[in-house]
Amino acid sequence: MGLFPTYLQHEIHFVDGTGAVLVDESGKEYLDFASGIGVVNLGHRHPRIEQALITQAQGIWHTSNLFASSLQQEVANLLCKMSGLGAVFFANSGAEANEAAIKFARRWAKMVKIIQEPEIITFQRSFHGRTLATLTATGQDKVKDGFSPLPAGFRILPYGDIQAVKQATGATTAAVLLELVQGEGGVRPADPAFVQALAAWCREKNILLMIDEVQTGMGRTGHWFAYQKYGIEPDVVTLAKGLGNGFPVGAMLAKAAWKEVLGPGSHGTTFGGGRLAMAVARAVLEELSQPSMMAEIRDKGTWLRQLLEKELRGLTSVQEIRGEGLMLGIELNTSAGPVVKSLLEQGLVTLVAGENVLRLLPPLVVTHGQIVRAVSLIKEVVQEWEWTAPVPAD
Ligand SMILES: Cc1ncc(COP(=O)(O)O)c(C=O)c1O
Repeated sequence: MGLFPTYLQHEIHFVDGTGAVLVDESGKEYLDFASGIGVVNLGHRHPRIEQALITQAQGIWHTSNLFASSLQQEVANLLCKMSGLGAVFFANSGAEANEAAIKFARRWAKMVKIIQEPEIITFQRSFHGRTLATLTATGQDKVKDGFSPLPAGFRILPYGDIQAVKQATGATTAAVLLELVQGEGGVRPADPAFVQALAAWCREKNILLMIDEVQTGMGRTGHWFAYQKYGIEPDVVTLAKGLGNGFPVGAMLAKAAWKEVLGPGSHGTTFGGGRLAMAVARAVLEELSQPSMMAEIRDKGTWLRQLLEKELRGLTSVQEIRGEGLMLGIELNTSAGPVVKSLLEQGLVTLVAGENVLRLLPPLVVTHGQIVRAVSLIKEVVQEWEWTAPVPAD
């Protein structure tokens, strides 16, 4: 009886929280520098978002996608305004948003480029989800283990290698799908020169440029969407995580010109775009649209990074500190799991990315005081752990 053991869970039972603070059943407080896994971007129990859900919960919950919803339309319009894209499909998760993007790319390729067996290029160390198509698109073998036969039509290339993309491009190439900061793969920001060259190549060869913003989106990097910093114009963008601040919702956005690619009956989902999710997403988008919000996130991100660099300087186990905005990774010279565990004991919630990267994804509403406290705990634990852990010889 019980759950599949798919998740290795910490035996901590959180029962409450506000902003960047979580409280367990014994009343112990934790600083949350994980936000779920980059989900609760506006913090726990955000009053406006909580109220939006309560208000909607007192009305009707579900009428299916067979009936129009002005709320759904409103959220779609907000997303279009913020992204510059023109068509939205609502899903329930990041994997489903990417699944929609993959299906969109295949249909687009058949309709526009007359390719019968379209291929999508993705990158090593990427993560795009756990459905069969999205795990096939993912550039990490561990998520595929035991799940063959996998769908055809994906080509995985080294991240950042434009020559590899050029060489791999052929008559059947339909799209490129990438994260601009690889999250699960170890908090690895893409080289801007690579991204610019890739965008130019996609334009030249009429290949769809599809950006997976499931983790980087909704303000995480100090921009509504990470691609806005890179100055590119994607054809497709996928979202989830922060869009619902913890309420399940995903979205696939595409250029208005390609709206007809997903015509009536071509794709669908029972729960996508449901009223509870839309009420929450509207509140999230309105909150993220506050004039100074993105600048504040960028400032806090820069500050957190500088403080980490200053405080962790000289620690031999720290290899590199990298990331964008409030999506930061500290690469260690060994496994990050034990560090995350020690930090939890000290009351700081963090994450592992890849094998050896300590990942920090605090809520975007984190305060300066909380940043100072978190950095001091990280320094303490990494230092302590450095003395006990064997450091490989040069
Ligand atoms: C970049 C990226 N894409 C897709 C996903 C999958 O999202 P979900 O777990 O909501 O299916 C994730 C989840 O971590 C992600 O980080």
